[in-house]
Amino acid sequence: MSTAEETPVIGPGRLSLSAARHPNGFWYVVGLGMGLANAVRHRRTGYRRPRPYTTEEVTRSVNYVVAVVDRWEEDGVRSWRGMRVLELGPGPDLGTGAVILARGAASYTAVDLFPLAGDAGARYYEALGERLGGPVDLGRLGYHVTAYPGMPGVDGPFDVVVSSAALEHFEDVPGTFARLAELAAPGATMVHHVDGMVHMRGIRPRDPLNLLRYSDWTYRRMSFPGVPNRLRADDYLAAAEAAGWRARIVPGRTAPDSYLDRVRPGLARPYRNRKDLAALTFSVAGER
Ligand SMILES: C[S@@+](CC[C@H](N)C(=O)[O-])C[C@H]1O[C@@H](n2cnc3c(N)ncnc32)[C@H](O)[C@@H]1O
Repeated sequence: MSTAEETPVIGPGRLSLSAARHPNGFWYVVGLGMGLANAVRHRRTGYRRPRPYTTEEVTRSVNYVVAVVDRWEEDGVRSWRGMRVLELGPGPDLGTGAVILARGAASYTAVDLFPLAGDAGARYYEALGERLGGPVDLGRLGYHVTAYPGMPGVDGPFDVVVSSAALEHFEDVPGTFARLAELAAPGATMVHHVDGMVHMRGIRPRDPLNLLRYSDWTYRRMSFPGVPNRLRADDYLAAAEAAGWRARIVPGRTAPDSYLDRVRPGLARPYRNRKDLAALTFSVAGER
């Protein structure tokens, strides 16, 4: 799985499951081969490319961050006005922060494990400013490279916590939700878009649950910094509730029964009988 090959949870990306009626064994071998090759490559290079395109593709990047913020609103953020906002894992730019501030937030702070946000240049922020109707004030976009789940150096309280296509990479989701509960102001809202599909580009639309085919032992061999954690919707829900959030899952892209019936016998034992496999992408939304 390559971060360079990721398709973001927002935007185009059609499932083409009917075009891929190969037996489970075929997908096991294809995913294993690609996964091992990616592990070798990414253990060497580290987590470098969070999206399949760079912010030099200005229009596409601007459209993307606006769509991400729109989706947070659809899935649970009622208003940004006057809110102190924390984003986890913004990736290659802080464009979402600029959109949120333009929509009235009081402050925006982003945290990330990897220092990726320096990637975006002046041309990107100029184009984003044109789209938002006023120049982006980079001085108002807070950014900490930090460690999870403690997030040292990050001080709350925050009224809104968001993330997009980030939590599925986290190693300690229960610990992160517990820390967010400490950083949250009373009545705070959180919305996290999660991409629970395999991230390998060729396999993703055809066998989206490919990552669940492997035993823990095998998956560890395919792993590298930033590899998806394989948690499913119910795991996020349970972790959020255990940390004191009143949480719910907002469905996104779902897998049809025909695919689930076919794939189930080919999944690793812990996943085979799960009831939450249809949720391929979803948001974890909650209030404190
Ligand atoms: C696919 S990018 C998403 C970036 C951006 N939010 C978007 O929607 O394009 C994943 C984000 O999670 C962060 N990340 C990757 N692995 C992580 C890990 N193990 N723990 C915490 N954050 C991680 C990356 O640095 C990056 O910001």
